[in-house]
Parts: sequence; structure tokens; C-alpha cells
Amino acid sequence: MLADRNQEGLKQAVSSAPEASHAKWCAYDAADAEGSAGLVDEAIAAFGRLDVVVCNAGIYDRAHFLEIGQGDWDRMLAINLSSVFHLLKAAIPHLQASSGNAVTVASTAGIHGIAYAAHYAAAKAGIIAMTKSLAVEFGPSGIRFNTVCPGKVNTAIGAGLQPLKNQNDGLLVRPPKLAGRVDGGEPGDLASAITWLASDEARYVSGSVLVVDGAQNIG
Ligand SMILES: NC(=O)c1ccc[n+]([C@@H]2O[C@H](COP(=O)([O-])OP(=O)(O)OC[C@H]3O[C@@H](n4cnc5c(N)ncnc54)[C@H](O)[C@@H]3O)[C@@H](O)[C@H]2O)c1
Repeated sequence: MLADRNQEGLKQAVSSAPEASHAKWCAYDAADAEGSAGLVDEAIAAFGRLDVVVCNAGIYDRAHFLEIGQGDWDRMLAINLSSVFHLLKAAIPHLQASSGNAVTVASTAGIHGIAYAAHYAAAKAGIIAMTKSLAVEFGPSGIRFNTVCPGKVNTAIGAGLQPLKNQNDGLLVRPPKLAGRVDGGEPGDLASAITWLASDEARYVSGSVLVVDGAQNIG
């Protein structure tokens, strides 16, 4: 079940998926608790069970800290952090039934911080802490929880990792000791890491934070 707020993107993704995948789509707003519950209901109605949940929806925005307004902060936290809370809350009873697992998508910004996106980094750090907490709390129920932390990936969000127009302090938007694959990864590089974490091959992996950044953040 592919879910996003972008209906056109969903239709394209489902039409390009292999027929054998039986992929379906569901439009939803990740920031909305009822939307997340409705999405889980749709998945159960369509497939009868839930084995894996991937919390991937997110936005990125850049601003000097003193210029981040209350509305910017609330929106960032709602879409990037509360969304994970809503979706997992709705999904966990079904994951308990299937001994399933969840993979959340945070960011290396949630580990190292990132200049001019403190609200984004705070939300991503929250995802990491929530995921680890759930791994412990629901370990006895047989559910695994893991986080993937991408570095720069060449998507719409990755393209936003540019200096601000009025930024003249010479700081990079990523940690200054940038190294490794500075060209950025591709979406498939993240998909394969997520697929592995969700698979039975990773059955002893829970509460882990898998950095997928081509060594960008090692300084
Ligand atoms: N691209 C990078 O460099 C990078 C780095 C670190 C982490 N990430 C994380 O990876 C995840 C995927 O991002 P991406 O790089 O593929 O960017 P993207 O913009 O291509 O994908 C984000 C998706 O989230 C959806 N979305 C946004 N707000 C939503 C909402 N309220 N409800 C439902 N869907 C919503 C968008 O429609 C879009 O399809 C995000 O959580 C992002 O923070 C990306």
C-alpha cells in the first residue's frame, strides 16, 4: 500500500510497479491522526494484514533559527515527527498480530544537527529516539523497530540542500568535514537498506540506527 499526499505520484508509482506486487495506493495527510488511522484501515481492508510499516513522508525547509516562526515549527514537527506517532499508533496492534516490524526514516541531521534547519533536525532526532524507545517497549511483543538515516539523496528534498540566498557565513549546509560520496545517493540506495531491515534477514536487528550516507558525515 503506497501512501502519500501526492495522488498523481501515487498513481504513477502503482502503475509502474510489477503486477505481481498487487500494489495499491491511498492518498493521506501524514500530519493528520485520523488520516493515518484511515490509511491503516484501508491497508487491512485491502490485504487483510500488516507486516511492515515504513514511515517515510517528510518535508525539508531551511531558515535562520531566529526566523523560524511558530507556524514553521508546528508544520515541521507535525509532518516529520507527529506523523510517525500517528501512523505507528494505528499500525502497532496489527504489527503485534503479524509479528511485523516498522522502519522509520530519519536523517543524519537528526544525529549531527544541521545549520539552518534546526526544526528539521529536531524532528528527525525525535524519530530516532521514538523508534529506539518502541524497540524496547514492544520487543516482548515480537515487533522490531529500526531507523534509517539518509545523508544527501538525489530527490526533491536532496535538491533543497543548498545555501540560503542571504547566507554569507561560509558554512556548508552539511557538517563542515564533509567527506565520502559528496554527489549523493539515489532513492534505490535507501530502498534497499529499508527492504533489508524489513526482511527476516534482519530478524535480530531492532532499535538500530542505520546510516546510509556513503560516508558523507565522517569527518
Ligand atoms: N533526500 C535527502 O537528501 C534526504 C536526506 C535525509 C532524510 N531524508 C528523508 O527521506 C524521506 C523521503 O524524502 P525524499 O528525499 O524522498 O523527498 P521527497 O520530497 O521526494 O519525498 C517526500 C514525500 O513525502 C510526501 N509528503 C510530504 N508531506 C506529506 C504529508 N503531509 N502527507 C503525506 N505525504 C507527504 C511528499 O509528497 C513526497 O512524496 C523524508 O522523510 C526525508 O526527510 C531525505
